[in-house]
Amino acid sequence: MRVLVTGGAGFIGTNFVLWLLHTVPDVRVTVLDAMTSAVMTNNFIYARRGSREDSVWDHFEFVRGDVRDRDVLFPLVKDSDVVVHLAAESHNDWSLENPDLFVDTNVMGTLAVLEAVRHYGVRLHHVSTDEVFGDLPLDSGVFTATSPYRPSSPYSASKAGADHLVRAWTRSFDLPVTLSIASNNYGPYQHIEKFIPRQVTELLEGRPMRLYGSGVHVRDWIHVSDHCRALWAIVTGGELGKTYLIGGACEVSNSDIAALVLDQGTWSLPASEAVVHVADRPGHDVRYALDSRETTAELGWAPNIPLAQGIRDTITWYTNNRAWWQEAKAATEQRYRARGQ
Ligand SMILES: NC(=O)c1ccc[n+]([C@@H]2O[C@H](COP(=O)([O-])OP(=O)(O)OC[C@H]3O[C@@H](n4cnc5c(N)ncnc54)[C@H](O)[C@@H]3O)[C@@H](O)[C@H]2O)c1
Repeated sequence: MRVLVTGGAGFIGTNFVLWLLHTVPDVRVTVLDAMTSAVMTNNFIYARRGSREDSVWDHFEFVRGDVRDRDVLFPLVKDSDVVVHLAAESHNDWSLENPDLFVDTNVMGTLAVLEAVRHYGVRLHHVSTDEVFGDLPLDSGVFTATSPYRPSSPYSASKAGADHLVRAWTRSFDLPVTLSIASNNYGPYQHIEKFIPRQVTELLEGRPMRLYGSGVHVRDWIHVSDHCRALWAIVTGGELGKTYLIGGACEVSNSDIAALVLDQGTWSLPASEAVVHVADRPGHDVRYALDSRETTAELGWAPNIPLAQGIRDTITWYTNNRAWWQEAKAATEQRYRARGQ
């Protein structure tokens, strides 16, 4: 199968591509990625250097380009059996600073992908986020595939816009499309500005973790490799036209994640000095939770990495791969400092 992965050089894309190359026989993967500032380094060059299985790279091609550039996108789609569309601006905090870019990339980029798959009749899987639903109260409720969209940031609004296009194009043009909505991912190759890598790398640098506000915000956490397996289960066995929820069944507050990070690693800072509270993100969603039982019942997929193990493995990865993140660390913290965080 020839798979085109847009945004394949980002966090989830890198994990998905590496998983495909090492797991699925006879797959050929092309990545189309603009290498925006969300990418800290070329993950494929980095991964290839540390890889003993050189032959898998014979099945891999990287194209640097913008998904909105139809002269680049269309020939790649024409040569594919399936497109997995991950390309997006994904940093919630950055969306408050540059909303135009988020609407341009996430809405117009998805439009370009839809037009390309429509033109060539190619199967599409579109990847979305639970943030399109807005947030839930701390003590009740869970999102299902039919929950109304109530996005609360420019990021989630632009992803919601993209999802609406996907559903409208699927229905109007009878396209072979599936859509999935996932909860908060964590794992290797995640930008160190994101919550868990930031805490881990702060501790590795001998500084305290930094919690937004009081740390009560609750997220449903899923290890990125569980997400990757789900994406492939949908691509290969999902019902066309359907939306699948991919959750980790693992709702944990940010302060409990911080406690787990502290517990699962060996750190130079004493526990009493390991957390400081910083200014909260404006409009910060309180809680997300996804009910992915239907995905499990239909596709036999379920998350299988327990949170403590996933956090431990993630700490080990960032500890062993300082070369991957060290250079970007100072600039990342500088951006946080400028926001008082
Ligand atoms: N990380 C999560 O917890 C999470 C959860 C649910 C859904 N998602 C969705 O999964 C997808 C990937 O998320 P991620 O965490 O890997 O984000 P990421 O920011 O790490 O990766 C996004 C990739 O898209 C690329 N990109 C951006 N604009 C582009 C353009 N115009 N043309 C081509 N490439 C472009 C970037 O260079 C980057 O490599 C996004 O659509 C996101 O909304 C993420």
